[in-house]
Amino acid sequence: MPKMLTVENLSISFRTSEGVITPVHDVTFGVEAGRTLGLVGESGSGKSISTKALMQLLPGNASLSGETRMTYTDKAGKEIALGRLKTGSKELRRIRGGEIGMIFQEPMASFSPDYTIGNQMMEAIMLHRGLKKRAAREYAIEMLNKVGISNASARVDQYPHELSGGMRQRAMIALTLSAGPALLIADEPTTALDVTIQAQVLDLMRDLQRDLGMGMIFITHDLGVIAQIADDVAVMYLGTIVERGPARDVIRNPQHPYTQGLLDAIPSVEHLHDRLKPVPGDIPSPTARPTGCPFHTRCAQAIAGTCDVTAPTEVSTIPGRAVRCWLHSDKDRNAA
Ligand SMILES: Nc1ncnc2c1ncn2[C@@H]1O[C@H](COP(=O)(O)OP(=O)(O)OP(=O)(O)O)[C@@H](O)[C@H]1O
Ligand SMILES: [Mg+2]
Repeated sequence: MPKMLTVENLSISFRTSEGVITPVHDVTFGVEAGRTLGLVGESGSGKSISTKALMQLLPGNASLSGETRMTYTDKAGKEIALGRLKTGSKELRRIRGGEIGMIFQEPMASFSPDYTIGNQMMEAIMLHRGLKKRAAREYAIEMLNKVGISNASARVDQYPHELSGGMRQRAMIALTLSAGPALLIADEPTTALDVTIQAQVLDLMRDLQRDLGMGMIFITHDLGVIAQIADDVAVMYLGTIVERGPARDVIRNPQHPYTQGLLDAIPSVEHLHDRLKPVPGDIPSPTARPTGCPFHTRCAQAIAGTCDVTAPTEVSTIPGRAVRCWLHSDKDRNAA
């Protein structure tokens, strides 16, 4: 499958009152057309800002490194250098929504409280699909139906606050999809929902992704969710991708100690009475990024004199798999 998105050497820095911090460090990943990439990592690992960078949605105190390359191939097959589109340009408006859709982590971020759900959907549909008002309304109702909202022809005239949390999340998905994106970024779209509704929304998103043949980036802190929804996975720790590959392979046979730790933290159905084992230790603050491998301060297998000194580069261990860890980089370690 051809890659529809390639991100190479993405680094993001922020100017802050405490100086410059770089919470995303040399990140490389890709999304293949029709497949789902799961981006997983603990809070603060840089998942949201990495995807916001694609959409040029970072705040004004952020900047990308000169080495950053982000290339998106649009529906017509044209290559577009993301991150360099002119603010307010027609091209950026076309890409945002019509080519790449984003469901945000913050509930309500996509909806304005002042307009009905239908009006907001129609605006997106008229802009990105070129439909007239009446046809756009029909299409909005069809999309609300598609995401499982009952009585869609009445719901379309309601305001976002009139819907329950689960319903609103479905409406947000419908709003994003109504612009017809080829790539969908879903940033923890189920975190704010209760568990049964979470499972329903997850199923819905997987079905829609398959039906519509979209590429998807699905962000979560839960490897269990990755197992359910993702084809490929990239595991992030402190702004670095420490391991990536096909989701099933990585989950069956994790190579990075951090991925192993995340897997140990998932309660299995047979062992629900066992205590959960979260990865021990605290995540270092981005202002005090460890030298060497960023994970060495929490890693039980860290090699003194190596892991705390030099950052490992990414090595391909098995075809299709890559890991950034000295335990898998013997040749490089001897050379270093
Ligand atoms: N506006 C900002 N100014 C300065 N630093 C920021 C800003 N936004 C984010 N950061 C830094 O980037 C880091 C990563 O943020 P990000 O929101 O991408 O984390 P995340 O992986 O999405 O976490 P979560 O799971 O909690 O959503 C933060 O921990 C913070 O240090
Ligand atoms: Mg986030």
